[in-house]
Amino acid sequence: MTQILITGGAGFIGSHTCLVLLEAGHQLVVLDNFANSSPEALKRVARLAGPAAAGRLQVIEGDIRDPADLERAFAAGVAAGAPIQAVIHFAGLKAVGESVAEPLRYWDVNVTGSQQLLAAMVKHGCRTLVFSSSATLYGYPDSVPIPEAAPIRPINPYGHTKAAVERMLADLVASEAGWRIASLRYFNPVGAHPSGCIGEDPNGIPNNLFPFISQVAVGRREQVQVFGGDWPTPDGTGVRDYIHVMDLAEGHLAALEAMLAGGDQLLTLNLGSGQGHSVLEVIEAFAAACGHPIPYVMASRREGDAAITVADPAEAQRQLGWQTRRSLKDICCDGWLWQSSNPNGYG
Ligand code: NAD
Ligand code: UD1
Repeated sequence: MTQILITGGAGFIGSHTCLVLLEAGHQLVVLDNFANSSPEALKRVARLAGPAAAGRLQVIEGDIRDPADLERAFAAGVAAGAPIQAVIHFAGLKAVGESVAEPLRYWDVNVTGSQQLLAAMVKHGCRTLVFSSSATLYGYPDSVPIPEAAPIRPINPYGHTKAAVERMLADLVASEAGWRIASLRYFNPVGAHPSGCIGEDPNGIPNNLFPFISQVAVGRREQVQVFGGDWPTPDGTGVRDYIHVMDLAEGHLAALEAMLAGGDQLLTLNLGSGQGHSVLEVIEAFAAACGHPIPYVMASRREGDAAITVADPAEAQRQLGWQTRRSLKDICCDGWLWQSSNPNGYG
């Protein structure tokens, strides 16, 4: 059993990962300021994990930018009988459009927040980290599938902050021995836990395709706008690598265990399925899952979009023995169960 600090553990990916970690027997301290999440998510995680996980999930409301809050989180580990041995760092802001409008806030939370966290880790002698990076830092890829060695060319402030943290981590690893860091570049995380009890609960109008479709399916919104029918793809709509959030959560467990078991390293890995699906394919698959058609209209292209982004996931399989197991059908069935059982999210 390892004591792990999970920043942003109440969020979409964090909550699913907390469940997987509890089921694997780990002990968790979550630090979250609930800027984009609800404490209810972690109550449900504790319920899903059941009596076997009793007492292994501590939740601290606090901000990664505040050294006093980080101190409280590290102290909570000690108080529970085991110092924090590793950190999974999810906390951050992730809306591309918002990052264009408020770049300083994005640099503050994503970059300064990461720097404060790393300083606290140094102070407490904890040098094992799994970091939430993003495929957004590939920008417009030269070719697909995209390997980790592809050029880093972010096209918006959000992407720049992820690239900056990856740079910070590389500098840190070069500066002293002892660091074991996995930087995970997620493609398009979607879906929900198969219980339908936890899932994605975006604030306001969703920016991303999958939550938008879910809200149309449940009657919260009228129709999906398909951003472009003239892309150089088989059906003319954008193609993405959608990864079930439970596959992603299992990828974090695999990365964490590899870091804890291995020597000093900086491992940078794509987490994706390697399969691309078009917007129309996702709409059709969701309609099949919910049992009724999803109304949509064709609209113009969204600024900043690429035609196709698909991961080359071979390195994650080689390094971690991990690959996705769930299909687009699983993604839509689980996403629909979550949305239909919780039409207003965590409420
Ligand atoms: P999310 O918004 O659901 O979760 C982020 C969590 O961090 C939230 O619970 C939020 O309250 C918390 N948080 C934000 N600022 C904080 C702060 N200053 N201090 C403490 N907690 C704070 O997002 P998610 O989808 O779960 O994403 C998790 C991470 O993965 C993020 O770093 C994001 O950039 C990255 N990522 C997400 C996607 C995606 O499509 N969801 C894709 C690539 C990378
Ligand atoms: C977006 C972000 C990316 C971020 C990721 C996860 C942009 C340009 N990219 O990726 O940086 O890491 O979310 O948060 O914002 N689509 C529609 N109608 C919609 C919404 C989307 O047709 O209402 C299309 C898009 O054009 C795209 C596909 O659906 O082809 C997926 O879009 P989305 O879910 O927003 O993800 P990405 O653009 O891949």
